[in-house]
Amino acid sequence: MRKQIAAANWKMNLTYQQGQELLDKILAENIEIKVHHEVIFGVPFPYLIMAKEKVANLKNYHISAQNCYNKKSGAYTGEVSVEMLESIKIHHCIIGHSERREYFAESNLMLSEKLDLLLGTGITPIFCCGEPLSIREAGTQNEFVEKQLQESLFHLSEEDLKKVVIAYEPIWAIGTGKTATTEQAQEIHAHLRSVLAKKYGEDVANEISILYGGSVKANNAKELFSCPDVDGGLVGGASLDAVDFAEIIKALQ
Ligand code: 13P
Repeated sequence: MRKQIAAANWKMNLTYQQGQELLDKILAENIEIKVHHEVIFGVPFPYLIMAKEKVANLKNYHISAQNCYNKKSGAYTGEVSVEMLESIKIHHCIIGHSERREYFAESNLMLSEKLDLLLGTGITPIFCCGEPLSIREAGTQNEFVEKQLQESLFHLSEEDLKKVVIAYEPIWAIGTGKTATTEQAQEIHAHLRSVLAKKYGEDVANEISILYGGSVKANNAKELFSCPDVDGGLVGGASLDAVDFAEIIKALQ
């Protein structure tokens, strides 16, 4: 059974103290986590070690970086390498978030390089894809996300692909309060899985967790997560509230 994942993406929010408090509150809930469930906190770089210590004794709770650089090491002032993340034993790394694609001009090729570096270590990439509103309105979202997968992922071996978590995040639903309907989410998640199946076979495609992101809230998580091809969520705004994110964790199927 593939993993069902509740992943928080704090983005550039919260002070160190607020982050500590938020983690403490969520963890104090002692939410029952099933064997096929995972809870991931995507926190800012300076909080990674603190967050890691907080979940150190908890099964199926992991900490994720929100980005890494696409070069191994060297004169890249201000960047953080995969090797650095590995050296502090970080479990996951979000890559290709639409905010990074838009504000930092990250291309599909650059993301394929990040994937290779991450997979060269034991770090699980959470690869984001998703279309802007103009593409959705033109009705070409399936082709758009297929191209994102092809250009960033399709050079991977079957064995490596199985280590990747995919997050589908329609840009028009991020931070807008406008969620994809369950029908829209299921349809495009099924499409993404079929694209993976075409290239890698049904068995491999069925092992990949595909998360939905874009205004996931405590009151819509259950319905979204109940779609057969939606394997949990990547959550921005609602992950900054302990009560809300705890509810989202409890909505995992
Ligand atoms: P919101 O949940 O705030 O819409 O953000 C989604 C997102 O970008 C998660 O990566």
